[in-house]
Amino acid sequence: MGYQEFPTAPLPSRRSPRAPGIVVVGLGFLAAIWLCFRTLFTVSDRTPNVAKVQQCSIENLHADLSFLDAARPISSDEFLQRRDRLAQALYTNKVDAFVLEPGYTFQYYGNISQYDWEPWEPEERPFLMLVLPQVNESGDITAKTAFLSPHFEEGRVRMLGIPSRDAELDIVIWEEHWNPYSTLLDSGLFSSRSPKLMMDEEIRDYIVRGLDSVGFETVGLSPEAELVRQIKSPAEVELLRAVNTGTVVAVRAMRPCLVPGLTENEVTSILDNSLLSIGFGLFFNIVLFEEHGALPHGGFVTGGKKATPDSMIVIDVGAHYLGYSSDICRSFFIDQPKTASASILSIFKSITVLGDTERLAEPVSSQQSKLLAEKYKVWDIVLEAQTAAADAFRPNNTAASVDIAARKVIEDAGYGYGFTHRLGHGIGIKAHESPYLNKWNKGVLLQTGMTFTNEPGIYLEGKFGVRHEDIYLVKEDGEAELLTGVRAKGPYEP
Ligand SMILES: *[C@@H]1O[C@H](CO)[C@@H](O)[C@H](O)[C@H]1NC(C)=O
Ligand SMILES: *[C@@H]1O[C@H](CO)[C@@H](O)[C@H](O)[C@H]1NC(C)=O
Ligand SMILES: *[C@@H]1O[C@H](CO)[C@@H](O)[C@H](O)[C@H]1NC(C)=O
Repeated sequence: MGYQEFPTAPLPSRRSPRAPGIVVVGLGFLAAIWLCFRTLFTVSDRTPNVAKVQQCSIENLHADLSFLDAARPISSDEFLQRRDRLAQALYTNKVDAFVLEPGYTFQYYGNISQYDWEPWEPEERPFLMLVLPQVNESGDITAKTAFLSPHFEEGRVRMLGIPSRDAELDIVIWEEHWNPYSTLLDSGLFSSRSPKLMMDEEIRDYIVRGLDSVGFETVGLSPEAELVRQIKSPAEVELLRAVNTGTVVAVRAMRPCLVPGLTENEVTSILDNSLLSIGFGLFFNIVLFEEHGALPHGGFVTGGKKATPDSMIVIDVGAHYLGYSSDICRSFFIDQPKTASASILSIFKSITVLGDTERLAEPVSSQQSKLLAEKYKVWDIVLEAQTAAADAFRPNNTAASVDIAARKVIEDAGYGYGFTHRLGHGIGIKAHESPYLNKWNKGVLLQTGMTFTNEPGIYLEGKFGVRHEDIYLVKEDGEAELLTGVRAKGPYEP
């Protein structure tokens, strides 16, 4: 054959030259598919089918809802037991009564939130719950519960259904032209003229001043009183397990459905709808892509960034279920598009990228692969830090020790500067409860029944962030129990 007489095709190829006809046809064919898939890709990149992703996420989530099975609402008896435990703490502290306003603590002891009482706004008229320790003849300490209420609200207070041992709630009423605090002092609830009252952490300052002004002695929360809520009952543990596992499962169910081009806001709304579909109440949902994730709680301008297969996606999300809160975080990648068109595309994309390389000091692909490698590395370091902290969740260890255990792993790996927040916090009806896990908190010891977030992170400004957050229950002996089902296994298996 005389093919050597013809010029070779202008391909950057070391392969032996071919007949020009074949080359031309081949090039034409390739160009045609290139154009065809480029069009396809552009369309799918710019307008992902959000409804389809939503449906896929919800279907995956609903495939197994067994995490809800063991969760039961808190019983009336348990509310009474909580108040008895508080009364015992008050007796130890030689305090005459604990005082609280509708809010989280009121919800914990009396099943009434601020919103149940005043959906409009916290009011200027005090409505207070008081828990007083009383000792019976056999020396047992139980709670006497009383309320201070404006007269005109008395009927509504009785209708709130506050769990109570007595048929009638013990309500001290005040008329609007009276001083509510001296009314309370003169109510007959107290034997002393200067009773000592412990203030809940959520109580408003004007109420504390009012109580002080008529002769009450007010003191802050004691560790014994705080401990009542810090130690979770078996029923609370099951509620925390249900809501936290469910929230993780919702993120995990959604991940394989996510496609390039979705925005942070779209992913937020997809996840919100998934959570709503299983009866969870929305709470917070922070979805951050790539460099947005380097600010642990995001910033003002997040929401519009689009996902790519290389984006580090950080989702920190909490929901409510039967009054209990979740707070979990997952960091992951979406899958590379798996369709034939996409794989051919990626070949073309790399050809395009290679075409650009001559103009750059460092090839784009090399910068990108370095960044990707760092993402994988940081992902692993954060997981290792979380493991170290999990091992330290043991009774009688300090609250500081778990933070220090995680911090050591991250510091040893050279990223200490990027772990900018404490390791975690207690969790219950509120996402953030005491004790707080920071390296300064050496005075507080972990105790059986406490529940915590374990959420180390590394944040590299301008690049990306990684955080893994799971919930742990401190157990009498041995390892802490994971209340989030399964920990993250890899960047594609969060
Ligand atoms: C607590 O309040 C919720 C919401 O109002 C209610 O559904 C539940 O029955 C109450 N629990 C008890 C023990 O009264
Ligand atoms: C004292 O209270 C405890 C707990 O409520 C109860 O079991 C006990 O019978 C009471 N003793 C007397 C003498 O009332
Ligand atoms: C924790 O310390 C207390 C007091 O020293 C001790 O009684 C208890 O057995 C310890 N608990 C564990 C699980 O080590």
